[in-house]
Amino acid sequence: MIPVEPVMGTRDFYPEDMRARNWLFGHFKEVARRFAFQEYDAPVLEHEELYKRKAGGEEITQQMYNFVDKSGYAVTLRPEMTPTLARMILGDPTTKMILPVKWFSLPQCWRFETTQRGRKREHYQWNMDIVGVKSITAEVELLAAITTFFTRVGITAKDVGIKVNSRKVMASILKAQGISEQQFAPVCVVVDKLDKIGPEEVTKELVQLGVSEKTAGTIIETMSARSVEELSTIAEGADQEGLDELKELFVQAEAYGYGDFMQFDASVVRGLAYYTGIVFECFDRSGELRAICGGGRYDRLLSLYGSKQEASEVPCVGFGFGDCVIMELLQMKNLLPDFPQLTDFVVAAFSKDMLPNALTVAAKLREAGATVDMQVELKKKVGQTFDYANRVGAQYVALVAPDEWDKNMVRVKDLRMEDKEANQKDIPLDKLHEWRTF
Ligand code: HAM
Repeated sequence: MIPVEPVMGTRDFYPEDMRARNWLFGHFKEVARRFAFQEYDAPVLEHEELYKRKAGGEEITQQMYNFVDKSGYAVTLRPEMTPTLARMILGDPTTKMILPVKWFSLPQCWRFETTQRGRKREHYQWNMDIVGVKSITAEVELLAAITTFFTRVGITAKDVGIKVNSRKVMASILKAQGISEQQFAPVCVVVDKLDKIGPEEVTKELVQLGVSEKTAGTIIETMSARSVEELSTIAEGADQEGLDELKELFVQAEAYGYGDFMQFDASVVRGLAYYTGIVFECFDRSGELRAICGGGRYDRLLSLYGSKQEASEVPCVGFGFGDCVIMELLQMKNLLPDFPQLTDFVVAAFSKDMLPNALTVAAKLREAGATVDMQVELKKKVGQTFDYANRVGAQYVALVAPDEWDKNMVRVKDLRMEDKEANQKDIPLDKLHEWRTF
């Protein structure tokens, strides 16, 4: 017997799971549409090189499903979408891309992680990115999209929050502590693990990066600031522009109407090396689940990949929002609707000679936009047709039988109408297209 389970950490989507997934993706797409983002996609197989970044230690680069293909080329299943987006922007065949660009995507991403609740080896990740906008109005728009999504599915600021910080501010504070620009990204990668591995381990790893124990202690202490004001008082040398940006972000979030979701948190630095400015992470307030989504500004990724605009960086900001944790949360909060199979019609022939006429009926209904399940095998008893129709969630059964057919009619029974007198009608063939009003 072959294994019937999918590969460890991956998921099969049976039709009911697929309905749930489509429901979730429908919300992602509708929010992106309302914010006027265009959809893009790319192959799941990427150049491994895209993820080889200078800052070592990033978990993501050690979790890749990478291999050498038959022509000797190093490839990987993409662990995230951002490098692909950067590649596509740089490789735009028209080379006339007019910035800003607002794009969204729903890629499947692959990471060889330890599987746990909400964490798998593949996940779908709603990505929204803005390329070419320097000001934090871009961050404000993206955070508005995230909170719009939450509101649509019934999640409130009581259920989730968004922690915000600024790498620009953190870099200036750490610089005052003697951390060089080169050290900064690897330090962030380590510091991002504070929740997971604790202060002692973090200190140990920082020391390995050449940071003194004392400085490591100061860094960890700085990260406990829970307001922008607190941060500017406890930390020396904080970049004023970065602090102003943070304050402005909170003002604009309030003006848009999602201020309740937002909180400053100096411990959020994100585990990816390329972020340069505002960073954010969304969490569930019960503390049971892993991060719901995360993102931030990454103004140097394109120049790192060789953008011609090297002298002037191409400002980018975006987020990734996985499908696993949010489904866990919706389940936990009882916010997931049922996803039953739904069919408008089961069309059945009363006898073999009626089959061609039943096909005509099915064709007319499909032409008029109905979901039609054509009963291709004749049933001995009409009851079997009704049992089947109930099982596939049909609203109507159209039974094509000689008596009605002779009068150019079809008998249509509404299975969801309780009134036994009124639930059955003979509909003229030339009125079938009006099925929505039956
Ligand atoms: P990330 O924080 O690595 O960021 O992932 C973003 C989100 O993807 C997470 O918050 C989580 O919802 C989901 N996710 C990540 N790994 C897994 C996993 N193993 N299983 C289930 N869900 C997962 C990025 O990937 C950035 N590229 C996001 C971004 C876009 N930044 C700018 N633009």
